[in-house]
Amino acid sequence: MGRFAQVKGEIPGPRSRALLEAKERFVPRAFSIHLPAVIAQAKGALITDIDGNTFIDLAGGVGVLNVGHCPDEVVDALRDQVGRFIHTDFSVVPYECYIELAQKLAALAPGRTPKKCCFFNCGAEAVENSIKIARAYTKKRAVIAFEGAFHGRTLMCMTLTSKIVPYKDGFGPFAPEVYRIPYAYCYRCPVHLQHPSCGLACADELERAFVARVSANDTAAVIIEPVQGEGGFVVPPRGYLSRIKGICEKHRGLFIADEIQTGFGRTGRMFALEHEGVEPDIMAVAKSLAAGMPLSGVVGKAEIMDAPGDSAIGGTYVGNPVGCVAALKVLELMERLDLPGRALAVGERIASRFRRMAESYPLIGDVRALGAMVGVELVRDRGTKQPAPQETGLIIKRAMSRGVLTLRSGIYGNVIRFLAPLVITEDQLDEALDILEEAFSATPPGSGA
Ligand SMILES: Cc1ncc(COP(=O)(O)O)c(C=O)c1O
Repeated sequence: MGRFAQVKGEIPGPRSRALLEAKERFVPRAFSIHLPAVIAQAKGALITDIDGNTFIDLAGGVGVLNVGHCPDEVVDALRDQVGRFIHTDFSVVPYECYIELAQKLAALAPGRTPKKCCFFNCGAEAVENSIKIARAYTKKRAVIAFEGAFHGRTLMCMTLTSKIVPYKDGFGPFAPEVYRIPYAYCYRCPVHLQHPSCGLACADELERAFVARVSANDTAAVIIEPVQGEGGFVVPPRGYLSRIKGICEKHRGLFIADEIQTGFGRTGRMFALEHEGVEPDIMAVAKSLAAGMPLSGVVGKAEIMDAPGDSAIGGTYVGNPVGCVAALKVLELMERLDLPGRALAVGERIASRFRRMAESYPLIGDVRALGAMVGVELVRDRGTKQPAPQETGLIIKRAMSRGVLTLRSGIYGNVIRFLAPLVITEDQLDEALDILEEAFSATPPGSGA
C-alpha cells in the first residue's frame, strides 16, 4: 500500500461488488464501468470508495476536475446558491451569476475582438450550438472536421466525431454536409516527414478539401480541437493551428475551436489556442469550466454570436445558476492558484518520467504533451508502430488494482492519457507514476494479445 493509494484487497470490494451487480440489472450495458469501485467521497486528487479503498485520480472525471474534487470554495458557493434559488430558466427570469460569468469568459477568451457568451449543459450542446451560430452567421451549410476528432454524442456531434466504434457504429444515418480531413498526427504522419520539413502538408489538406470535396462558398466552418483529446492526445506542431485559421479566413469560413477538453488551464494556458496566439471566431467550452457541475458555454465574436434571432437558441436548463456560481469560483481558483502554471509543472513531471521510461520499456512508442495534457502511445513494435491496445488495457488495469486511476484514448485505444487534477501534489503524482512504472514492468509487448 502506498502513502496515498490504498487498496485493501480485490477491486471491486464486497460493497462495491453488490452494487455493481444491481447496476448490471438496471443500467443499460452501454454504460460500462472503467473503475469497478463505487465512490464514497473525493477531495483534491484522491477518491475513496465505499469499501475504504483510496485511489489517486489521474483521470479527473475525464478532464472535468482541473481544480480537483470538491474545492471548499466551490462547495460553499454551491451550498449558498441552492439555498437561494435553483432554477428559473435564464430567459424567463435572469440572474446575476450568468451575466457575470458571460462577462468574465468573454474577457478571458483568446483575441481582442469583443465577445459574447452563452451557456448550455454539456460539451455536445456547446458544439451543436456553435455550428448553429456559425450557420446562422455565414448562411452557409457545410462543416469540416478532422480525422480523430471527438465532439460529443448527439446527432451533429456524433457526425463530427471520427472514431467509428463505439461512437458511430450502428447509429447512422448521420447529419449531412460534414466533411473530414486528416489532423496533424505527426507520430503517424502518412508523408513520413518530420516537422518542419513536411512544410505542414497536413494543413494544406484543408485547401485541397475546397478543391476536391466541398466548395468553400458552401462551407460555414471548420471545427478543430487544438489538441485532440479522445483522438489520442495528439499535439499538432507549432504553426498548424494558425495555418488552418489563415485558410479559414481566406475562404471566409469560421474557425470554431473545441476547447472542451483543452480549456481552463489544462495545457499550461487558460486556453490552448493561446500557445499560438490564434483568435477563434467561436469557441466551445465545458468540462473543467464548473468543477463537475453540468455547464458548458459558447463564446465568440459578438457580431457572430448575435446572428441567431430571438429565442433561436436556448433550452430549459441551459446556464443553470448552480453551474454558473461554480464556474465563477473555478475562474477565481484558476487565477489564485495559478493552475495554468501548475499544469506546466505537472505535465513536465509526467512527460519527463515517461521519456526516461521509454529507454527501458519498448512498449512506449511516443510521449506527447502540451502542459498537463500528456499522452503516452503504446506500440507492439517501434518500427511498424503496431498499436498495443491490449497491453494498454492491462497496464491501466494493473495500475487500478494498485490504486491509480488513468484513462485511455486514441483511435486505436492505445494511448494512456493523463488528466490529473492540477491540484495534485508532487508526492501524490510521484507515487502514482511509480505504480504505473511497476505496471509497465509487468507488461511486456505482446501481453494480453
Ligand atoms: C473535445 C471534446 N468535445 C466535446 C465533448 C463532448 O462533451 P460532453 O460529453 O460533455 O457532451 C468532449 C467530451 O469528451 C470532448 O473531449
